Amino acid sequence: MCPEQQSQLINLHPPAADMRRLVVAGMERHPRQLPAWLLYDAEGSRLFEAICEQPEYGLTRTETALLQARAPELAAALGPGVLVEFGAGSARKVGPLLEALGPPAYVALDISPHHLEVACRELQARHPTVPVLGICCDYSQLQQLPDHSLLRGERRLGFYPGSSIGNFSPVEASLLLAQLRGLLGPGARLLIGIDQPKQVTRLEAAYNDAAGVSAAFARNLLVRLNRDLAGNFDPQAFSYSARWQPEHSRIAMALVSRSAQSVQLAGRSWNFSPGEELITEYSFKYTPEAFLALASSAGWQGAGRWSDPRHDLSLHLLVTPDS
Ligand code: AVJ
Repeated sequence: MCPEQQSQLINLHPPAADMRRLVVAGMERHPRQLPAWLLYDAEGSRLFEAICEQPEYGLTRTETALLQARAPELAAALGPGVLVEFGAGSARKVGPLLEALGPPAYVALDISPHHLEVACRELQARHPTVPVLGICCDYSQLQQLPDHSLLRGERRLGFYPGSSIGNFSPVEASLLLAQLRGLLGPGARLLIGIDQPKQVTRLEAAYNDAAGVSAAFARNLLVRLNRDLAGNFDPQAFSYSARWQPEHSRIAMALVSRSAQSVQLAGRSWNFSPGEELITEYSFKYTPEAFLALASSAGWQGAGRWSDPRHDLSLHLLVTPDS
């Protein structure tokens, strides 16, 4: 009926005032730490795509292959409903699920407006029979999904691939999982990709690739802050470090001040001592058991798990007791 279906977009990107408040709060922490979503301006989203193609970063390739190989089973386990992807990025993983599920609609949430628009347009062209809606937002702060005709009256199936929840501490991750349960509503199901602890050399290499893309991705945060919050960071005055911290089961990614320096940002002056770190992001890793414990603390139950042959990562199907 509608051969040239157009994807739709809703922009709920956090306003500049919120960004300023979050950055000031993060700069006042010890160690300094900024919200990971700030990494994803247009250039950051482009650099993250490039990370996903580095030989050392297997997560994207492994998860994509798993989704491709198991799509019919995954679709059967999910059952009917609107598919809602959190942090969709370029939305390159969802294709096989859309084919196998044929959902009444696909909703993509992402923080990067430009990438979201391109991703939705491309996805809509490839899947002309599935209405596509993009919502630009910080999904960790979203109180509810917008009241939109594509979402009304349909059961909601969450799709949260890429181990993106690893950016949140376990306490924050539990709150986020509970919040996703609320966003998805009664009968919710969630298919979530979780990267697992593995050999330290493999973990650290994945976050410090030889081509230097991971380092460029972290330094781009400073470029973004210079632009959006009137900063004067010299990105080269910081080295990049990615270390596995086994006691926390996480990779800590940081920019390390090469010397004593003073930086202007958000109308204030900030001093860095030599070696002082600015944490750009953490990447927490969970064994299947540890993740299921976290999920149950947020009111979810495990209903299935799919893993790659090397057991590097898992796709967990979570359900609510009412589904
Ligand atoms: C998008 C959070 C899953 O932790 O592997 C990769 C982010 N940062 N390399 C990850 C990331 C640098 C990525 N997540």
